[in-house]
Amino acid sequence: MNLQAEDIEFSYGRSQILKGIGFELRPGEVLGIIGPNGSGKTTLIKCINRILEPSQGKVTIDSRDVLSMKVRDVARIMGYVPQASLDDLASPTVFEVVMMGRMPYSSWQSNKNDQELTWKALEDVDMKRFASVPFRQLSSGQMQRVLIARALAQEARILLLDEPTSNLDIKFQREIMDVIIGLVRTKNVSACMILHDMDAAMKYCDKAVIVDGGAVTAAGDTEEVLTAENIMRTFGVKVAIDRNYGRPHIIVL
Ligand SMILES: Nc1ncnc2c1ncn2[C@@H]1O[C@H](COP(=O)(O)OP(=O)(O)OP(=O)(O)O)[C@@H](O)[C@H]1O
Ligand SMILES: [Mg+2]
Repeated sequence: MNLQAEDIEFSYGRSQILKGIGFELRPGEVLGIIGPNGSGKTTLIKCINRILEPSQGKVTIDSRDVLSMKVRDVARIMGYVPQASLDDLASPTVFEVVMMGRMPYSSWQSNKNDQELTWKALEDVDMKRFASVPFRQLSSGQMQRVLIARALAQEARILLLDEPTSNLDIKFQREIMDVIIGLVRTKNVSACMILHDMDAAMKYCDKAVIVDGGAVTAAGDTEEVLTAENIMRTFGVKVAIDRNYGRPHIIVL
């Protein structure tokens, strides 16, 4: 499914956070959103999936305005893996958290298919043995795996991931990214992910946008966006792009 965000503006009270942001995400694509802390990345994702309502601009899925769609239909299409803690959850078990991914499909009672998809998702993130543990007792990396499992169980067509690997150890960073990229490549799902690790963005993302001060300052193919000049301008950090080992690697100097 085609996701398009056009000219999105959003303010928290009087402070304008997003100043006319847009991007497009096609099926089978991975888009990286890069930018400094506080630049509006999380706010943008929340405007996309209707947690927040933009004051201007629109978000469409296959040309349909998301605001005209039922919340339940939007929830079937877009899977969201939030950035940090989960204050909205009381103290469900790991299994229950992943099962929440089935809510847009289930009636009050979950069925066998919902349960099977939940177990499969737990297996994909290697958390099956924690199924009956209270979610709050997990380490932050384990929580992140469970939240990714929830989005997998949801069978979403568009995944929105806010720093999905920030709390994961390096082995698991790779495994989770492989699961996500595998889905994109085999099932024509699309993924939009906020990443601080620019080398990971270089490795996994087809396209990238840089969000700085609530606006897009660069967009296009990842290699064209993550140049030494753009990174210097955005973060004030000097990097080298090393092309000696296959794909370009970003090395912070
Ligand atoms: N609920 C809120 N009320 C008021 N201001 C907020 C709220 N949430 C975020 N902001 C402000 O909006 C701006 C953008 O925040 P946002 O979380 O979108 O940034 P971000 O790019 O995701 O940053 P990070 O890389 O640190 O996650 C920040 O200045 C932040 O302080
Ligand atoms: Mg954020």
